[in-house]
Formats: sequence, C-alpha cells, structure tokens
Amino acid sequence: MLDQIEQIFKEIEILPINNLAELEVFRIKYLSKKGIISQLFEDFKTVPNEIKKNFGQQLNNLKIAGQAKYDACLSEFSKINVIQTKKDLSAPSDNVQIGSRHPISLIKNEICQIFGRIGFNISEGPEIEDDWHVFSALNFPSEHPARDMQDTFFIEKNPDILLRTHTSSVQIRVMERQKPPIRIVMPGRVFRNEAISYRSHCIFHQIEGLYIDKNVSFADLKQTLIYYGKEMFGSGVKIRLRPSYFPFTEPSAEMDISCSLCKGKGCNVCKHSGWLEVAGSGMVDPSVLENCHIDSSNYSGFAFGMGVERTAMLKYDIKDLRIYFENDIRFLKQFSAAL
Ligand code: DAH
Repeated sequence: MLDQIEQIFKEIEILPINNLAELEVFRIKYLSKKGIISQLFEDFKTVPNEIKKNFGQQLNNLKIAGQAKYDACLSEFSKINVIQTKKDLSAPSDNVQIGSRHPISLIKNEICQIFGRIGFNISEGPEIEDDWHVFSALNFPSEHPARDMQDTFFIEKNPDILLRTHTSSVQIRVMERQKPPIRIVMPGRVFRNEAISYRSHCIFHQIEGLYIDKNVSFADLKQTLIYYGKEMFGSGVKIRLRPSYFPFTEPSAEMDISCSLCKGKGCNVCKHSGWLEVAGSGMVDPSVLENCHIDSSNYSGFAFGMGVERTAMLKYDIKDLRIYFENDIRFLKQFSAAL
C-alpha cells in the first residue's frame, strides 16, 4: 500500500495540466470525495496498527501535495483568464494620467535652450557654498550689506559656510577650473533670509550667464540680451538697459522689457512705468577675472543673472509666487509635459 501512495505521488507530480478543464478532471480523479486520495483514507482504517503511523504520514503528505498542485494551477489559470478577457484590442485604452512639468522647470529649460542655440553650455554648482565663491571672489567688500545676517543663511558653527544667495558663485567655480573662451549658463536654486510674500520667497531660482573671451565688449552683452529678450518674450518686445551697480561687474546694467500686459502704456504690474525688470548684467570686473587667475589684460567678458520665478510670472501671468511651492495639482496640470 505504501508503494501505491508513492506511485500516486509521482503520478501527480508529472501529470501535465494545461487548462481549467484538465484541472477539473484532476480534481475529480484525486481530490474529490470519491477520488483516489479519499479512497485511500478509507483504506487507512483497515491498515494494521504497526504501519498505521507511517502510512498516515505518507497519506497526509500525498493529500497536501495534490491540493498544492491544484491551488498553484488554479491561480495561474485564473490570471491568464483575466488577461484573456481583458484583451479586446478595439476597446478604448485606460485613461493614463501623465504629469506635467513644473513651470519653474519649463522656464529654466527654455532659458537654457535659448542660450544653447548661441553656443552656451550649462554648468551647475553647489548650493552649500563658502564665503569666497559667494562674496569675496565677486568683490563684495567685507562690510557689504548682502553679507548681513538678514539676507544670508549662514551655518551657525562656521560662518565661512553658507547657502548661496545667488548663482554668481558658479561663475567663480567655472572660471577657476576652465580657461577662456567660456560661454556658459548656470541654473540653480538660491536662498535668502527673506520674509515670504506674494513677490519674494526664501528659496528661489536663478540663471546666471557668463561669456569670457578676447575682445568681448558691452555691445556683445547688449546684443545677447536683446536676442534673449526677443526669443523669450516675443519679437515685438522692447528692451532697455539701465545703469546699475553690482560689485562684480563694471559697468553694470539692469535689463528691462516693455510690459507685456499694457504694452508699455502703464499698469499695476509694471507699476505704471511701462517697463519690467528681468535681469542684472554687466562687464565682468577685471579683479574678478584676476581672482580666478584669468589675465584681465588679455581677456574680458560679460555676465548676467535672472530670476526664474519672476520670468515665469511674466510669461504665465502668475500674480503670487507662493503658488510655485504649494504643489496644487489644479495649478500644476495647466502646464505642458514637454520640454
Ligand atoms: N547676482 C545678482 C543677484 O542675485 C544678479 C546678477 C547681476 C548676476 C549682474 C550677474 C550680473 O551675473 O552680472 O541679484
């Protein structure tokens, strides 16, 4: 009788079952009330006592093995069944929701692409910086108000380490390791200890630009900014440069574009001036070049920096920049998934 159990064991093990119908035949033959295994349980009653224990164990194992094979086949065939019933190629597809890009990423990418088309590469630098790269190398005198605790997040234990307040620090990093000609844009996140309001935040994004070569002049800067303005805001936009001051550029200029809302007539957005400020810029101060071991008698260059949040506000008519950081899906889904 033990031989018989072993025989059935093998039979069950190798028996091929290919579909639900064959599985049902298997169930009836082995596992049903009148099946082979139940029959063996009946026979068990007549087994002599001395082999009962061994026989019982073998029989139980057989029952478990039969049931396990049945369960495994059943779960496999039911999966196939579900797939087969779903496979209607003419049925409309499930509505797959795809995400969209964040407006800050869209504008960042667009700015990088505009400059990419005239030969600018992209570089990035660290958000946690040191005094040299954020201030000293850029000619900020030690008593300059931008170093004040009001504006900069310093690390308590080491005032030499800080969160960068602008992407101009990346200019220094690039010039320290690269020899001219340099043509590069540097996007990134910056941090300032400012109260959060509809027009300012303690975290925001900038894109820095830098061009260093022989004989680079203010005319090159002006043409580059005009090109950028027209690509970004449309060919009808008017552009003006206003004298300004930055410690690391001389001369320095602020770039304004004509207000896209009132077309220069004057409105709330442009504070009735007809103009909107979009970038700071200037000719790189020779001492900044020297700080990075670039010979200022041989090379000159220009730099510029613009706020991404502000540019996105102008492009998408956004009135309150806090919405960029709220992750409100109703706001985010209005933007494109491309680019
Ligand atoms: N770093 C300046 C800021 O955060 C922006 C800026 C102005 C960058 C002039 C420049 C520049 O490269 O030439 O306000």
